[in-house]
Amino acid sequence: MTVPIAIIGTGIAGLSAARALKDAGHVVQLFDKSHGSGGRMSSKRSEAGALDLGAQYFTARDRRFVNEVQRWQANGWAAEWEPQLYNFQSGQLSPSPDEQTRWVGTPRMSAITRALLDDLPVEFGCRITEVFQGQQHWNLLDADGNNHGPFSHVIIATPAHQATALLAAAPKLASTAAGVKMDPTWAIALAFDTPLDTPMEGCFVQNSPLDWLARNRSKPGRDATPDTWILHATSAWSKQHLDLPKDAIIELLHGAFAELLHCSMPAPVFSLAHRWLYARPASGHEWGVLADADLGLYACGDWCLSGRVEGAWLSGQEAARRLVEHLR
Ligand code: FAD
Ligand code: NAI
Repeated sequence: MTVPIAIIGTGIAGLSAARALKDAGHVVQLFDKSHGSGGRMSSKRSEAGALDLGAQYFTARDRRFVNEVQRWQANGWAAEWEPQLYNFQSGQLSPSPDEQTRWVGTPRMSAITRALLDDLPVEFGCRITEVFQGQQHWNLLDADGNNHGPFSHVIIATPAHQATALLAAAPKLASTAAGVKMDPTWAIALAFDTPLDTPMEGCFVQNSPLDWLARNRSKPGRDATPDTWILHATSAWSKQHLDLPKDAIIELLHGAFAELLHCSMPAPVFSLAHRWLYARPASGHEWGVLADADLGLYACGDWCLSGRVEGAWLSGQEAARRLVEHLR
């Protein structure tokens, strides 16, 4: 019987590794603590429709990722988003068009990871707490005390903080992962019955609690009503307000939005807040992947490269490449 490769995490990094390994003829088994795939690229279902609370869009600069995104586009999983972009600086809102191609999942961000997962074997709602070596193979322990295995190799595709604990069998890798700082982001969604009177569809914000905002319906395939906006706070503001109740976060960021638009904004008909504790690495790295090939243990994710969708996907590719190379 073939002993499968375990992959912990069904974000874009874990799924990138999973697809590359499957294509190379290997058997994989995925695990995720959440009830669906996508991680920080997931979308939340709500009464205001599907909301992309994490990654807003992505760019493709590396040729390998450009080719992959073209494949996603051809399959209808991703499309170009061409928002009316603005910049908010020193209290001034001004149009800020550019030539950058930006991509989103269609009809929601999570469509991409969902399609990549396809029929790969996965256990959702399964938080792995320990990765340990049996006589010949690897085993995993989950938070409910269940044992999973045996596995020939393990790829840990979680944010650095969670990876540190799971890398205990490779202390050097664990200490590298422990040194990665990841910053939080408060995200909120606000929905309005009457569309806001502005041509703005996305905005980069400076000197404000806000960092970014986007108009959901300007993205391809989204519902036109209600007029839903996603607002992200800066890392610094999110850190300062980490433990504030969600209602207070919504009120403060709603206020910052009204200030930016210089208008008295209507009360939203729907709102929600989500706290991403490990939203982005505080700085970029160039590891690609952390690997102990002799042990058969690998860690990948955006924190091994740039803290972006592209970096996470490339890191997953690198984990699969290194693993396959070691088997040759
Ligand atoms: P993740 O997506 O975090 O996946 C890790 C997975 O592991 C998760 O599904 C998690 O549930 C699972 N997991 C964790 N611990 C365990 C465990 N112990 N057991 C089992 N499963 C576990 N990038 C861009 O390119 N453009 C953007 O506009 C953009 N905006 C962003 C906005 C926000 C608010 C956030 C949070 C991120 C944004 N990013 C953006 C970054 C982008 O989302 C990430 O770089 C990318 O999605 C990371 O993918 P990943 O697979 O490395 O990690
Ligand atoms: P990109 O090239 O669109 O943006 C990179 C940065 O350039 C922006 O953050 C912004 O500061 C600036 N910029 C780009 N276009 C601009 C314009 N037209 N006007 C004014 N400023 C502009 O995309 P890239 O490089 O793929 O970056 C991904 C985005 O994801 C970034 O905006 C980044 O901040 C965001 N992100 C957010 C995270 C969070 O937790 N909130 C986590 C990871 C990424």
